[in-house]
Amino acid sequence: MLKSAIALLCGLLALNLCGAWAESMSCPLKDPPSQCGGYCLGVLMPVLNHLNIPHNLANSSKANEVIVRQYTMEGQLTALKDKQLSTEVALDAQGRKLDINEQNFTDRLNGLESILSALEETVINLETKMKYFRFEQIGSKYYYIEKVSEKNWSDASKTCRNMGGHLADIQDEADLNAIKANLQRDTHYWLGINDLKYKGEFLSMSTGKSAPFLKWGSGGPSQLDTFNCVFLYNGEMHNYPCKYNFQFICQTEE
Ligand SMILES: *[C@@H]1O[C@H](CO)[C@@H](O)[C@H](O)[C@H]1NC(C)=O
Ligand SMILES: *[C@@H]1O[C@H](CO)[C@@H](O)[C@H](O)[C@H]1NC(C)=O
Ligand SMILES: *[C@@H]1O[C@H](CO)[C@@H](O)[C@H](O)[C@H]1NC(C)=O
Repeated sequence: MLKSAIALLCGLLALNLCGAWAESMSCPLKDPPSQCGGYCLGVLMPVLNHLNIPHNLANSSKANEVIVRQYTMEGQLTALKDKQLSTEVALDAQGRKLDINEQNFTDRLNGLESILSALEETVINLETKMKYFRFEQIGSKYYYIEKVSEKNWSDASKTCRNMGGHLADIQDEADLNAIKANLQRDTHYWLGINDLKYKGEFLSMSTGKSAPFLKWGSGGPSQLDTFNCVFLYNGEMHNYPCKYNFQFICQTEE
């Protein structure tokens, strides 16, 4: 009953105000009952007094307080939104910083990895060099030419294996010419070729297959039964009993 009375009064006031301001501006109260805040109540107070409506029901300071609180809350909300926004900005910046750090970390890790792999390669090269330190590059291959001690074929073969290689098998004419230039004249050098398995079938000991290249001296290989091991002499190949002691040529494993 009282509420509707206030609503009615508000409506009247609004009509009044709108009537007065109609020429200059739009009506400030479009929904009087709910829009009628502290201002309206303040204006209505004398009317309410006149109508003898209990003050506590239309306490303008109460209404003002509500409005103040509402403003305060709006202010707090805005501050909160600002704070949230700045937090988001800060988080975004932090995220980007983390991204950069992660990228930096990844870059450095990649850098370290490439250093490590370079080191690994160096170590492998050093190991190979140490393993084959007595071998020298002749042409495209690595050889060790024994120029002092003479051994029978099997001992010579064993010596090459202990050095990490095998008795040499010449691959082709170019190989032969390259190695020939490094040998003493009129000297016998065992090669890794023999026909111990089948007479007349000269196999390379490193592969177990037919010798890749043979260059027999005049008359070709001897047909004698005990002439099984092949040696190099002044750039030509001959066969001879394996028990004889000759110098020898070792080659690294491919
Ligand atoms: C209005 O409300 C306040 C707070 O509730 C109270 O202290 C004050 O006495 C009231 N005023 C009137 C005129 O009733
Ligand atoms: C990456 O990190 C190192 C060490 O913290 C620093 O010196 C360098 O400037 C950083 N680089 C970038 C691109 O952030
Ligand atoms: C090769 O020589 C070694 C040591 O001199 C000897 O023990 C071995 O029996 C010989 N092998 C052949 C096939 O002559």
